[in-house]
Amino acid sequence: MRRMAADAVTMDKIVALCKRRGLIFPASEIYGGIANTYDYGHYGVLLKRNVIDAWWQAMIGDRTDIVALDSAIIQHPKTWEASGHLAGFTDPLVDCKTCGLRFRADHLGELACGRKPSKHPGETPECDLTEAREFNLMFETTIGPVKEVGATVYLRPETAQGIFLDFKTVLGFARKKPPFGIAQVGKSFRNEITPGNFVFRTLEFEQMEMEFFVPPDEAQQWHEHWLKERLDWYVRLGIRADHLKLRPHDADELSHYSSATSDIEYLYPIGWSELEGIANRGDFDLTQHAQHSGEKLEYFDTASGDRYVPHVIEPAAGVGRTVLAVLCDAYDEEEVAGEQRTLLRLHPLLAPIKVAVLPLVRKDGQPELAQEVFQALRGQVQAEYDEGGSIGKRYRRQDEIGTPYCVTIDHQSLEDRTVTVRDRDSLSQERVAIDELPAVIGARLVAPWQTPKLAEA
Ligand code: GAP
Repeated sequence: MRRMAADAVTMDKIVALCKRRGLIFPASEIYGGIANTYDYGHYGVLLKRNVIDAWWQAMIGDRTDIVALDSAIIQHPKTWEASGHLAGFTDPLVDCKTCGLRFRADHLGELACGRKPSKHPGETPECDLTEAREFNLMFETTIGPVKEVGATVYLRPETAQGIFLDFKTVLGFARKKPPFGIAQVGKSFRNEITPGNFVFRTLEFEQMEMEFFVPPDEAQQWHEHWLKERLDWYVRLGIRADHLKLRPHDADELSHYSSATSDIEYLYPIGWSELEGIANRGDFDLTQHAQHSGEKLEYFDTASGDRYVPHVIEPAAGVGRTVLAVLCDAYDEEEVAGEQRTLLRLHPLLAPIKVAVLPLVRKDGQPELAQEVFQALRGQVQAEYDEGGSIGKRYRRQDEIGTPYCVTIDHQSLEDRTVTVRDRDSLSQERVAIDELPAVIGARLVAPWQTPKLAEA
């Protein structure tokens, strides 16, 4: 048995596996699909949910200085005036007068001009580009039945602003004082023009964002704290440390609100790219919303008499990009007995299915006993029962969705109430008594995989 080189993974292989096993696939496919938009199937939903649960665990399970929030997607339109998104959340775009395509002016280097030759039959196409113009990335819609009289509103391009709008309300009931954080997970929307590279860049995507409010003179130390915490979190999820790095932004790429940002980058098959941004937003957002709303958005310390606008450290991660990084890092191919096996070496915490229960044959009482085993396990962990097809094919299927353990019921099981437990990574098989199975599986899912923080979960 041989683990292939890490570069066995390509984006095409990940896309193909996700489609083949129903994890993630193009949305609206019966109508030919829609750009940069994907649906998650059963295993994809479970994987995504496990990523989000691990994030909540790190935010509000492992610590007590953060509270949760779920704010609205459509906020008052003044929100985006104050935040700077209405004026500044733009990409420079150019149109090609020859082929009618639209490109990002700052990404032209990545394009082969006129790469749609069918639009220019019989000639070597050359794009005839317009001057660049700024294109706002926010999706616009209206409230009310008639567009003309309805108020224009926007689908949020980040979850962060909902947190700032609720800062005062949360401060009122959360019984927290800076340093403390407000965390939320939810969908954001951006009218992205650049081709997306699967779920790396999509029109709608889930963000996991936390705004950490701190006394101004502690901002830098908390920024450093969160850089380390967030990098560690990805390593705890099983992503190889040498596939992760921190990249501080150059001054000319900082967002309008940020005095310092570092991205956590992952070595995707497309190269090092942003997985999460960790920004020092200073007092920009609270000050802006205070000015535009007329509300006092500050902290008053009754004990010391101090009054100040907290500064904000923001770790902002994407669910889709984390799922993609986890898939790329777990993807492996190896030769077993002259055949190639594809598998996802997922951390068990993230694996959509923890254990699959498989009767060797669909007769002789094996399905009935397998059902008994399945029912005992499914109350404990996410389990799956599968009796269709050859055992080899069923193992391959579980390998490809990253199931750490397969429990097989064979003729001996009916005689002595033992089963085999097959390990996804080592392929070792061990006989275990059915009565001991829940304890054995439970112990294996915790140790030796989990770091102390995850084990506490
Ligand atoms: N509140 C700050 C903020 O939104 P960002 O760097 O624009 O910062 C944070 O977004 C994270 O959201 C990114 O690091 C990425 O993981 C994810 N993200 C942003 N745009 C995305 C898109 N179009 N598709 C998928 N994920 C995206």
